[in-house]
Amino acid sequence: MCGIIGYIGSENPKNVLLDGLKRLEYRGYDSAGIAVLEKDHVEVYRAEGRISNLEKKLDGHNFIGSTGIGHTRWATHGAPTEVNAHPHRVGAITLVHNGIIENYADHKEALQIMGREIKSETDSEIVAHLFDLEIQAGRNLEQAILNVLPRLRGSYAFVVMNDREPGLLAGIRNGAPLLVGIGKEASYLASDVQAILNRTNKIIYLLDRQFALCKKDSVVIKTIEGKTVTPEIKTIDWTPDQMEKLGYRHYMLKEIHEQSQAAANTIEGNIDSGHGIISLAELTLSPDELKKFKRISIVACGTARHAGLVGKYYIERFAGLAVDVDFASEFRYRNPILDKETLLVTISQSGETADTLAALREGKRKGIRTLSICNVRESTLARESDVVLYTDAGPEIGVASTKAFTTQLVVLQMLAIQLGFLNGHLSEAQAKELTDDLRRLPLLIDKALEAEKAIEAIALEYHPDTFFFYMARGVNYPIAMEGALKLKEISYLLAEGYPAGELKHGPIALVDRRTVIISLAPLDHASQHMNMVASEDANDQHQVLYEKQMSNLQEVMARGGKIISVGSEPDQKLKTVSRSVIKIPSASWAHNPILLSIPMQLLAYYIASFRGTDVDKPRNLAKSVTVE
Ligand code: G6P
Repeated sequence: MCGIIGYIGSENPKNVLLDGLKRLEYRGYDSAGIAVLEKDHVEVYRAEGRISNLEKKLDGHNFIGSTGIGHTRWATHGAPTEVNAHPHRVGAITLVHNGIIENYADHKEALQIMGREIKSETDSEIVAHLFDLEIQAGRNLEQAILNVLPRLRGSYAFVVMNDREPGLLAGIRNGAPLLVGIGKEASYLASDVQAILNRTNKIIYLLDRQFALCKKDSVVIKTIEGKTVTPEIKTIDWTPDQMEKLGYRHYMLKEIHEQSQAAANTIEGNIDSGHGIISLAELTLSPDELKKFKRISIVACGTARHAGLVGKYYIERFAGLAVDVDFASEFRYRNPILDKETLLVTISQSGETADTLAALREGKRKGIRTLSICNVRESTLARESDVVLYTDAGPEIGVASTKAFTTQLVVLQMLAIQLGFLNGHLSEAQAKELTDDLRRLPLLIDKALEAEKAIEAIALEYHPDTFFFYMARGVNYPIAMEGALKLKEISYLLAEGYPAGELKHGPIALVDRRTVIISLAPLDHASQHMNMVASEDANDQHQVLYEKQMSNLQEVMARGGKIISVGSEPDQKLKTVSRSVIKIPSASWAHNPILLSIPMQLLAYYIASFRGTDVDKPRNLAKSVTVE
């Protein structure tokens, strides 16, 4: 939530800041602003809404200065107005902030008693006042930081300039992400590496309770107790190209198309060349330790939680372990029962989601082992977990998650196979067959993408509709929920996702001639492992689920619902019970949820495009939710 950037160097900061902000816009787009320290004063420009509005304001304006800060806002305290936009300027201080200051009201009251005029409704401006009081008392920025930070409660990242120290830019981190980029005669501060990767790939990730004092040719890192620390400078291997749209209309569409490569990259390096079975290179716990786990507790938010729900089916079937899946925002306040036989698995694309981080910390506090599935290296979640399994999806910029989700499913499938093989739930032959099946996945994803044109045509037909009901059974039901979430997020249409068996317990009351029903009912390709793994009658069980879903379809058809069926290539029955049919390639039980995700993403994408919404930056959302 909120993107912040700072620059100190020899260039004119305007382009660096605007360019960086555009790359951070996925973090919030309620307002934007930049401030540049000129010779003897600071120029601040702010605008409501998108960065393009700010750009218009800045058109033709050139700064004389080489230090500046910028901000793109996702509003928490105070409406998304210009007066609440950052940077905030108070006396000698100019500041941008990401996060929440929980005790700002106490400070505000004290400042008002002192006669200070508070212009905005934000918690951020209050902190600018606290810094300014220090500067007015003759302290420098470093001393001000050391005095102010112990008085703040909450999570935050700040970038601060002091008029009286023109060669210095300070970045402070406690609970919200902030990193330092080391350039040639330039230093950068940013919420995310994407903002500056086209300028430098040498990065210092600040830790909580640390601050950076940046000059154009030096960076000093200190703790908020004032102790200097020697930072590790990392070289990032994401390329600037990966951040571009490369001819696609939207990042989301590009990212949908990147999924077979992302899956291949995620699988690569995780198959033991000796026996041809999954062996996750990053799973650093010993086999003995892994065998001890009797229960897996999965915790995540949004799309990542849907991945966790599919993971439950994978782990229960392939590893025979009990799995529960929780909303991170609920988990930590529930006093969850966690013992030494439980492995806590957190899933997060960004690795910065506040609730997921809090859940991880709750697990650690209770002394249990933690594993995270994460896409962003060096993110807070990755750093704080005992074990990290990375999804190699590359940068995901579209706010609606696509390739991060399918690679999360790939990692969960691999984890389930490895755990099952280790604990004896899977024989060597079964584990080998499942691994072979996994190698075929990238090709199947490419085949699933071939339905794009057909899906676009279906989207054109249905985009004026206003209520979409998604349903599926078994391992595919979380994909019904994910399909509905995708549509909600980017088209703002009413969409619900349910296990089909729940239809009769309420939602069927919503069905009438205006309802579009999206039924996910693939056939499981009867590979050998289906006969071998878990229950002998897994195939029969699947047949029963399929037949039951066909009955559910009859029920909605009888009530006039318009049915779009998503099913397997060879299934000829679907067209007799549906108004429209989308096909995915014939695949195994384990791959069907991954392949079904693709038409779900494309359908949402094209419906939203026809409705003319801003697909990559849907209203009110932010890609990384760093506040609770
Ligand atoms: C936000 C995003 C969702 C995402 C969720 C969890 O709500 O809009 O797309 O699924 O956060 O994000 P994470 O980075 O933890 O996967």
